[in-house]
Amino acid sequence: MAFPVHRPRRLRGSENIRRMVRETRLSVDQLIQPFFVIYGEDVVNPVASMPGVHQFSVDRLVPQVKETWGLGIPAVLLFGIPEHKDSVGSGAYDKEGIIQQAIRAIKEAVPEILVITDVCLCEYTDHGHCGVVSEDGEVLNDPTLELLAKEALSHVEAGADIVAPSDMMDGRVGAIRGALDEAGYSNIPILSYAVKYASAFYGPFRDAAESAPRFGDRRAYQMDPCNVREAVKEAQLDLEEGADMLMVKPALAYLDVIRVIRETFPHVPLVAYNVSGEYSLIKAAAQMGWVDGERVMMETLLAIKRAGADIIITYFAMEVARILSN
Ligand code: PBG
Repeated sequence: MAFPVHRPRRLRGSENIRRMVRETRLSVDQLIQPFFVIYGEDVVNPVASMPGVHQFSVDRLVPQVKETWGLGIPAVLLFGIPEHKDSVGSGAYDKEGIIQQAIRAIKEAVPEILVITDVCLCEYTDHGHCGVVSEDGEVLNDPTLELLAKEALSHVEAGADIVAPSDMMDGRVGAIRGALDEAGYSNIPILSYAVKYASAFYGPFRDAAESAPRFGDRRAYQMDPCNVREAVKEAQLDLEEGADMLMVKPALAYLDVIRVIRETFPHVPLVAYNVSGEYSLIKAAAQMGWVDGERVMMETLLAIKRAGADIIITYFAMEVARILSN
């Protein structure tokens, strides 16, 4: 009887040895917690399709951000739900807009935490699209760039540390870089949603951010889920325009894309967005008692790291941080 010479199991015998040979680790240092900010006072609206996620008014958001910082999470990502929507998304670049107020309040209470803002118009437009819409319903690229640049600048003037354009218009990173540089903010990084697919996994987010398009869909500007070579092109263009960090979104159904971008651009920090639908699927199955929610959460986030992401934006961030600190 010949016994096997090679026994990978030798390195799996105890938690202690497994801990030592582990190749991938989750770290609180590389988590970003998203928040939804809404007008009003003392507002905490649960988002029905995202158990554990809420829309907070600014006064209720600030303690949440304090807690986030207390858990060791370095950054938050803010989405705003404005009081009024209009055809050009004025609330997005209003000095007294919801995001601008939230940034100032956070910076006063927790100055150290990095405030990243989502730069997009869909939450602020009455039609729910990410840009200016023509009479026949087309989302117009170049007229939108100017508004996005104005929005990004307005966030930075309010105190944002990093801006994250998520609209998928062509040339927006260059437009935003130009506007920031001209205003003296050449030190503010741009985290580009470079590779963003037209995904059904954003469904719950659109409830949370009240940003579902009133007509049509986003397929004329977000990427086709069938494409991966095109992801390299999008990332390349954004880097040429001045992006400092790249994002792939969604994460879980696009692990192959994360890997390709990681290998093609080894010198750039890579962020993956573990989006709303990915979060809600796990929460729902856990609530049904069909999976161990905590373990599936950790395994999912590990998979995103193993695929090559450095940083993960996830609604689970605070939950994970609590587990990691135990
Ligand atoms: C704004 C934006 C979206 C998400 C982030 N920024 C929605 C969309 O593009 O429709 C989705 C995030 C998530 O699902 O968690 N354009």
